[in-house]
Order: sequence, then structure tokens, then C-alpha cells
Amino acid sequence: MTRLAPALIPLDAVDPAMVEQLLDRAFGTGRRARTAYKVRGDAEALPALSFAMVDEDELLVATIQAWPVALTDKAGRAHPLIMVGPVAVLPERQGEGFGSALMLAQAQALGPQAPLPQVLIGDAPYYGRFGFSDEHTGGWTLPGPWEPTRLLVRCTNPAILPQEGSLGPWKNG
Ligand SMILES: CC(C)(COP(=O)(O)OP(=O)(O)OC[C@H]1O[C@@H](n2cnc3c(N)ncnc32)[C@H](O)[C@@H]1OP(=O)(O)O)[C@@H](O)C(=O)NCCC(=O)NCCS
Repeated sequence: MTRLAPALIPLDAVDPAMVEQLLDRAFGTGRRARTAYKVRGDAEALPALSFAMVDEDELLVATIQAWPVALTDKAGRAHPLIMVGPVAVLPERQGEGFGSALMLAQAQALGPQAPLPQVLIGDAPYYGRFGFSDEHTGGWTLPGPWEPTRLLVRCTNPAILPQEGSLGPWKNG
């Protein structure tokens, strides 16, 4: 019997407990102590930029999320950014293209002229292929430990990015 390729669906359509289980398997249960979690604070994931891949047995195989965050410059102005991630793939399904498919689906949802820069903490050799680099993040700080070479940004016009700033949760109001 031919197996169907996993389907791309909005993350909203997946039981949140299943998403948490997948993230625990991909990153370990200590993942919540990571700096990325402090950057996004208690924000809700952006539904239009968060996706899942589910196989024909309805098993969740991969997810991507995105969050509203802020880069606060030296003058105290908050610049809105989108934080990408985590991208998570079940350990036994890694290397089959699911991570790339999710990155491309999210990039398509953002559009070629994405209105906001996107930031992530991750491996440049992987995320570089999707346009992310550490070229413009050297003067940025985070609310926890980070490796500068893993703080990456993608932006259609890098001239708008503050050279210095602190990354943290987006605060409404
Ligand atoms: C990292 C992750 C999201 C990639 O998704 P994936 O579906 O396994 O990857 P894809 O099949 O789309 O891409 C595979 C390619 O990416 C490369 N790749 C995968 N993870 C990589 C990494 N951390 N750094 C560099 N390259 C990586 C593979 O070598 C392969 O390269 P090739 O196309 O030249 O053969 C996934 O493996 C994962 O969830 N890992 C566990 C969580 C993790 O380690 N995250 C850290 C990433 S920053």
C-alpha cells in the first residue's frame, strides 16, 4: 500500500498536549529553561505562522511556531519582530525534509515582503539556507545565556534593524 506524505495543517488544529509531547521529544524536558522561552515570555503563538505536519495515522511528526517579540533599542523604543521556532521533528523522522517543509510554509505565509524581521536562536548551517544570518545581531542582548553565532535574523531591509538592542517579550499597551 502506498503511504501518503504527511499533511501540512495549521498548528491550531492540533491538540496542544501533543505539541508539548513532540517538543519534549525533540528538545528534552528541560527545554523551558532555554533563553528562547524567556524571549517570548507568555505570548501566544501566532496562528497564521504556526504549522504542523501530521501523517496518515494522525501522528504529529513536526511543528513550527512563531511569536511576537520586541527588540528594545538604546532609546527605549520597542521594535516588533517575529520570533521563529521551535522547529521540531520527531527524532525518528528527522532528515526527511519536514523541517525544511515547515520553514518554507512559514516563509510563504510571511510573503516575499514580510512586514517584520524574523529572529531565531538556532544553528546557522541549517537556518542559513532559509535566509537567516548572524550578520546584524552582534549588538543585541537576550534575557539569558546565548551563543552569538546562533542568534540569527532574516529581514528584507536590514537597514531598519537597530544595531544595538535587547530582545524580549512583546508587551501590549
Ligand atoms: C533541526 C531540525 C528542525 C531539522 O529538521 P529535519 O526535518 O530533520 O531536516 P530536513 O530534512 O528538513 O533537512 C535535512 C538537512 O538539514 C541538515 N541539518 C539538520 N539539522 C541540522 C543542524 N542542526 N545543523 C546543520 N544542518 C542540519 C541535514 O544535514 C540535512 O542536510 P542536506 O539537505 O544537505 O542533506 C530537526 O532535525 C529537529 O527537530 N531536531 C531536533 C531539535 C534540534 O536539534 N534543534 C536544533 C536546531 S537549531
